[in-house]
Amino acid sequence: MPDRYAVIGNPVAHSKSPAIHAAFARQTGQDMDYGRLEAPVDGFESAVAAFRREGGRGLNVTLPFKEQAFRLASGVSARARAAEAVNTLKFTATGIEGDNTDGVGLVRDLCDNLGVGLRGRRLLIAGAGGAAQGVLLPLREAGAVAIVVANRTAARAEALAARFPGVRGCGYADLAGERFDLVVNATSAGLAGEAPPLPAGLLAAGGVAYDMVYGKGQTPFLQLAAQAGAKTADGLGMLVEQAAEAFRIWHGVLPETAPVYRQLRDEIGK
Ligand code: ATR
Repeated sequence: MPDRYAVIGNPVAHSKSPAIHAAFARQTGQDMDYGRLEAPVDGFESAVAAFRREGGRGLNVTLPFKEQAFRLASGVSARARAAEAVNTLKFTATGIEGDNTDGVGLVRDLCDNLGVGLRGRRLLIAGAGGAAQGVLLPLREAGAVAIVVANRTAARAEALAARFPGVRGCGYADLAGERFDLVVNATSAGLAGEAPPLPAGLLAAGGVAYDMVYGKGQTPFLQLAAQAGAKTADGLGMLVEQAAEAFRIWHGVLPETAPVYRQLRDEIGK
């Protein structure tokens, strides 16, 4: 019997995690079965318990269950504690270990794949929801000299920043006149076909704009950044990197991400 894993969420039909983990398993010779588990919005805990009872070894957790997974885990990593959210559960003989690989996924995509060093850089995160919260600790640990969180609702950015020493929170208009080496869009504005209302001229020469969302074609945020001459990247690389780190947590081996990224990019289209 292959070891059983799955991604749990609602909805989960379009998740790319099964394809990514199947490719990693082929590459590293793991005998693994990785499926999709759609739990009712009010039925996360019982779905996890049933999967575990049936011999499941671990789960990736996606929307809207990452906070519930954090509460369910019997032990969590420092980065999951900082995020107050868990995207990787590992079932052991004694309990359920929770981790969060989103932030390290973003940092590896930036540093290893895109060549965007973070040490000494000035960094802006647009958005103060779960996506921003999930990545702040690993970004800070990667050595940025300044990290600012800006949000439409400024108070939310201030409250989030207050949990991370050295991070500042503010509204978008407060950023006028500032310069950043990297701007990360962690808002869901793109879903509404919008970009966060950032003041013009925020990116320093040679600056990079990164959208945590991915898909065919550029989001409004990336379109604006490209028009302003920035280098741009979407979140597909982060998706593959966070999956690789989850794979390492379960199987003890970090798979190669580049071929899997290229395969997905070809499937999605530019
Ligand atoms: P999640 O936790 O899933 O990221 P969320 O908590 O609703 O979802 O956060 C969504 C983020 O996108 C927030 O930062 C939100 O800003 P507010 O806190 O002011 O609501 C931001 N957002 C959503 N739509 C936006 C838009 N059209 N323009 C700017 N920011 C937007």
